[in-house]
Amino acid sequence: MYIMLDTSKSSVGQSGDFVTIIDERSGKKFRLAIMRGTMGSPVVDISRLQSEMGLYTYDPGYGMTGSCSSDITFIDGEKGVLMHRGYDIGELAEQSDYLEVCYLLLNGELPARAEKESFTATIKYHTMLHDQMQYFFRGFRRDAHPMAVMVAVVGALSAFYHDSLDIQDEGQRKLASYRMIAKMPTIAAQVYKYTIGQPFVSPRNDLGYVENFLNMTFSVPAEGYRLRPAVIRALERIFILHADHEQNASTSTVRLAGSSGANPFACIAAGISSLWGPAHGGANEAVLNMLEEMQSASRVGEFIARAKDKQDPFRLMGFGHRVYKNYDPRATVLRSSMREVLSELGVEREPLFELALELEKIALQDKYFVERKLFPNVDYYSGILLRAMGFPRSMFTVLFALARTVGWVAQWREMVEDPLQRIGRPRQLYLGSPPRAFVPLDDR
Ligand code: ACO
Repeated sequence: MYIMLDTSKSSVGQSGDFVTIIDERSGKKFRLAIMRGTMGSPVVDISRLQSEMGLYTYDPGYGMTGSCSSDITFIDGEKGVLMHRGYDIGELAEQSDYLEVCYLLLNGELPARAEKESFTATIKYHTMLHDQMQYFFRGFRRDAHPMAVMVAVVGALSAFYHDSLDIQDEGQRKLASYRMIAKMPTIAAQVYKYTIGQPFVSPRNDLGYVENFLNMTFSVPAEGYRLRPAVIRALERIFILHADHEQNASTSTVRLAGSSGANPFACIAAGISSLWGPAHGGANEAVLNMLEEMQSASRVGEFIARAKDKQDPFRLMGFGHRVYKNYDPRATVLRSSMREVLSELGVEREPLFELALELEKIALQDKYFVERKLFPNVDYYSGILLRAMGFPRSMFTVLFALARTVGWVAQWREMVEDPLQRIGRPRQLYLGSPPRAFVPLDDR
């Protein structure tokens, strides 16, 4: 079997060239249309490969598979570019705010002033949780990991908000999206309060999105929380940087769960489960554990040697990415703002940041990392920043889930509204036993 480029142009719609695949044994040929998006690599349409050639494709980890078409986010991994609806992530992080980015992801355009005010008011209207939900929290052990509680509480939203479960109803889809974006800060803060044994703090609609979250997380009935502009700005930036990231593992999980027609709260709970793993959103927690274990720059060489040793499962956490073969642009923003934020927070010297810089410097000069194009990803610096703001590391992935909710919701809505959408159902290369006769128990 081989594939050759056929230079004849397709006459159909937006397809450009074709590739022709030829079965060398039978000589059978089939032309596959090449589809081109606005930017990025073209893709080969294989949807008729099975019916024409009796073949499926084999792509473990889906690294070569475009699972959908999307208008939301574009990544050029070779150049280290990330854009939402055509806007560069660096510009959004510098000049926009989180709710504006939420609006952009959901609606495709930046909001005009009146649209922004109306969207902000809608989100504020939905910040509270059904009162009955406090009893749901109480069923958990206090020492549960916050992600374990969050995934359950988000899944349970479908038991409390019956008027936003009908995915065929556009109004209900929108309502579910607004509820999710509005309630995630309340859930995240309550998860935290529950696990440290403090009473829940109600949302305050006189505060902005980020301020309200900080207040619910860190204030107590006996004492308010001093909202510092530097902390608000830094967290706002972290939320923007995590808002969406194309078809990553958790977003694909949301789409796959949603493709069966499952309700939006259940789909987001599935996304949170996927995010929890250390190869995905759990890496920011793992980075801090790694740096603390390392303790001093004198041990950098030892950790790099372990990361390179194929007999050792250890990996340099916060390094490498399926798509970025260059510096993750989100890590660039975090790295460049780190010193400014730390000094505004009154942290003169953060030893873990200095250690992270040293580790990065040495890794980026090492042949192993250079050859494999392994660069720091967003998780490499976010944990250090969150720690400086006072968040315990068990909350890092919870914050990631909070910020990513809008991306999941936008991608879920895009999928439900896509007329070509079908249930997600990959195939397999079966390597098990051929047919054999059943052996009765006494004969085994
Ligand atoms: N440390 C050491 N070696 C690494 C690392 C690393 N962090 N990441 C990749 N490699 C090596 C692999 O061992 C492999 O080497 P080989 O070619 O000799 O076999 C090569 O680089 C390619 O790696 P893959 O595992 O094929 O890359 P994949 O795209 O499957 O995985 C992933 C990407 C999961 C992010 C990986 O780089 C990793 O585990 N990194 C550490 C965890 C991490 O930081 N995750 C956060 C990702 S960003 C996010 O989710 C927000």
